[in-house]
Amino acid sequence: MLVIENLNKTFELGGGTFKRAISDLNLIAPEGDFITMVGSNGAGKSTLLNLIAGVYPADSGSIKINGTDISTFPEHKRAKFIGRVFQDPMMGTAGTMTIEENLAMAIKRGERRGFSLGVKGKRTEFRHILKELDLDLDERLKDQVKLLSGGQRQALTLMMATLTTPKLLLLDEHTAALDPKTAARIITLTNNIVAENQLTVLMVTHNLKQALEVGNRTIMMHDGEIVLDLKGREREQTSVERLLEAFSRVKKERFLDDRALLA
Ligand SMILES: Nc1ncnc2c1ncn2[C@@H]1O[C@H](COP(=O)(O)OP(=O)(O)OP(=O)(O)O)[C@@H](O)[C@H]1O
Ligand SMILES: [Mg+2]
Repeated sequence: MLVIENLNKTFELGGGTFKRAISDLNLIAPEGDFITMVGSNGAGKSTLLNLIAGVYPADSGSIKINGTDISTFPEHKRAKFIGRVFQDPMMGTAGTMTIEENLAMAIKRGERRGFSLGVKGKRTEFRHILKELDLDLDERLKDQVKLLSGGQRQALTLMMATLTTPKLLLLDEHTAALDPKTAARIITLTNNIVAENQLTVLMVTHNLKQALEVGNRTIMMHDGEIVLDLKGREREQTSVERLLEAFSRVKKERFLDDRALLA
């Protein structure tokens, strides 16, 4: 279970200006919740994921996973129980290392690095994992990852992020850089891995249809806040059009609020 309370993050932009990227944000995600997250550019979605993963610290507030406040933990310590996949297929894997070395590294994630990655005894297991991906990677264990296509690389990143069954999986537009067919394949793979391991997931997407179809809950962010939280019947009855309407309504209301404040 993920519990976020009163989370705040302001960036200093230079020249004495500031951007409040996350504003008093609260979120409770029970174990097994698969939340899709939407919101326009700059809404704070990636910042929220970065704060959870520990890329940078929050200004205030707490982030608890299964009761443990992780907000002061360094990033590598959080990596032990948080898996993540980014938009850029180049980011989640080490390009100059081989597929098997990457997989071995994923098993050791969050642990102190030893002298050996212990690849040798694990080749059969790795081959099995890659065969399941059905992307012709099972005979390429010794290939450098930089030789793979974006889709193959993203599939590998997803496998690596979930190999040690994280308590939380963070996906930040992880299919955005892929062609439609490969993107659909990665979404199917995501669904399968999440269902098999009953993972708790936060998935950012700009695809509203996908946001309503994948997972069991959809939140919308705007200006560092969660402005809509859809689940159950309400979500089932929400169409892409209604989500878009809600989106423009929120924007309009916020704008009017700002005007009222200035008046
Ligand atoms: N490291 C940073 N330094 C300064 N400002 C930042 C930094 N990271 C994010 N911001 C600002 O914080 C706000 C939220 O950015 P964020 O990347 O979280 O948005 P997002 O919802 O992920 O948008 P997108 O859909 O474009 O990915 C933006 O105004 C952005 O410019
Ligand atoms: Mg983003």
